[in-house]
Amino acid sequence: MSLLSHNTENSFQETKSIMNPNAGEWKPSVNAAAWTPGQGFQVPTPAPAPAPAAAATQTPEHQESTMSDIDENDPLWQAVLKIAEGDREKALTMINDPDSLANYPEVEAILAAGVGGGDDAMDIAECGDDATDQFAKDVDDKLKIDDVPTSAPDYDDDDNGDTLEIDPSTLKEGDPREHMNLVFIGHVDAGKSTLSGSILYITENVDKRTIERYEKEAKERNRESWFLAFIMDTNEEERAKGKTVEVGKAHFETVDKRYTILDAPGHKNYVPNMIMGASQADIGVLVISARKGEFETGFDRGGQTREHALLAKTLGVSHLVVVVNKMDDPTVQWSKQRYDECVTKLRPFLKQCGFTIKKEVKFIPISGLSGANVKDEVDPAVCSWWKQSWTSGENNTNQPSLLRLFDSLEIQGRDPTAPLRIPVLDRYTDRGTIAMGKVESGIVRPGITVTVMPTRSEYKVDAVWANEDPVAGARPGENVLIKLNGAGTEDVRKGYVLCTDPPCRAVDKIIAKIYLSDMPENTKIMTAGFQAVFHAHCCEEECTIVKIFETTNKKGQVVKNARFASIEMQCICMIEVARSVPVEKYDDYPFLGRFTLRTEGKTIAIGIITKLPPKKA
Ligand code: GTP
Ligand code: MG
Repeated sequence: MSLLSHNTENSFQETKSIMNPNAGEWKPSVNAAAWTPGQGFQVPTPAPAPAPAAAATQTPEHQESTMSDIDENDPLWQAVLKIAEGDREKALTMINDPDSLANYPEVEAILAAGVGGGDDAMDIAECGDDATDQFAKDVDDKLKIDDVPTSAPDYDDDDNGDTLEIDPSTLKEGDPREHMNLVFIGHVDAGKSTLSGSILYITENVDKRTIERYEKEAKERNRESWFLAFIMDTNEEERAKGKTVEVGKAHFETVDKRYTILDAPGHKNYVPNMIMGASQADIGVLVISARKGEFETGFDRGGQTREHALLAKTLGVSHLVVVVNKMDDPTVQWSKQRYDECVTKLRPFLKQCGFTIKKEVKFIPISGLSGANVKDEVDPAVCSWWKQSWTSGENNTNQPSLLRLFDSLEIQGRDPTAPLRIPVLDRYTDRGTIAMGKVESGIVRPGITVTVMPTRSEYKVDAVWANEDPVAGARPGENVLIKLNGAGTEDVRKGYVLCTDPPCRAVDKIIAKIYLSDMPENTKIMTAGFQAVFHAHCCEEECTIVKIFETTNKKGQVVKNARFASIEMQCICMIEVARSVPVEKYDDYPFLGRFTLRTEGKTIAIGIITKLPPKKA
């Protein structure tokens, strides 16, 4: 019950911005002096404002001390006066020339003991308290310091950023319960945020007072039923429009497992944000509205149900839980007929997306709003048929509720003995560069050296945090923060991969098998020269189809050396990316070997990498 135990709202705001794909592109806009090119923004440490002592650390052109500024009792002034053998004029000159002062050990000792402030402290001290508050607020607002997640540990390191004040002997291996990322996807207004909020409320991660506050706010905005969604939709735009924009992130746990919810936006404009969430997920939760008319809209061309399911499959979710939501709605009233209708229509379509229904897909009816079937089984008085349905394992589901269903899912292929692979989701500066991502394979520990692909730079891992705590090691499935010794923010970017030997490949050409699920407006065929954007794990890069080797149409007819491919065809082709990307063959590392192609705001193909160029000697 970690995240919300202190301050619900702030925790979410902070975690929200972690998921903003633009979060890495910080720009100096408030205090340019605090921005160091290549190093990002350093948060100055506020300090008290000692008058002459602080002045002593300031350069003369910034501020000249005068006799009237002097506090006679200040230890620094007394020391300088002593060095100047009582000559007050000489002492004043010395105070105004800090470089020469630093040569006197007795002065250094006084400064080191904390009498004086640093330059950063001085900048703030000069502004007074109000200005300090304003400065801190501006920093938060504009420079996204809240990108530092709640899990960002508060630690001090020495000047060169190398040594951490974390005693290695205190580090634990982390919570032994398995960790899983759930991504909530589906058409706009299907109820993803409401369900996320409902789970957090039911698992006691949100207190009653907060809920009452959201109920009041939702009412004031004429969005009464949105109060649970407000737990996840924290920013003004989201609450005003009732639409998620950025992927919200929150934690909950059951007795058996730990979970992170990634609440993706349903609106098609925000598909790139949704891809970010899905690329981290182990389990896709496809939320479908059973309400009359809404279920149908989600499926229409342009409805997001189709694109989201396709993306989830390609981006690597191991299981898809299809939540048929809004079962309480007056147009549904827990009707088995409506539930069966939704499931029957979804099955062939999910099969088309590449899911093996029996093995990978489960269906469950719920009401996110009332909480029925979320943690506890729906009351038989409300829904008489559910018990019979789940006890007989109908639609692959043999669990009474959604949380029980999550607990029952096993994630295959998490190999702690394989070489380390952590696709970088983002990074930020906190006295050194901290990369964030999910461990896909291997174990990351403080002290090991990792190779960053595609640049091949090597860095020692200074510290690892999982679930807000510094840990001695993090296994596959953990969302981690990793401090890399000596790396600048430009050295570790979104889409790079942290590896141990042998590192993953970095290539600019791949041979792939793709399925063309859609085409851009006004384009009917794909030929050599076709351009799109290549998305694999957290990485995206412009690409060109350079050659089509073979196509297979819906009837299974194969054309070798085809000159073009069209919608609903499979095709083997060579793709060239503008800059080299860190990937692997799908058969070796599935999570680094699958991708999507997008153009003109829609996903047009999903694919797997079948061949990479030979390794250079
Ligand atoms: P986007 O973020 O815009 O993609 O939407 P979303 O899927 O997060 O939907 P959201 O949770 O914001 O809910 C949209 C509307 O559906 C709100 O009015 C909710 O109250 C309503 N809703 C969500 N779940 C349920 C439910 O179980 N039953 C009923 N009756 N209404 C629901
Ligand atoms: Mg939402």
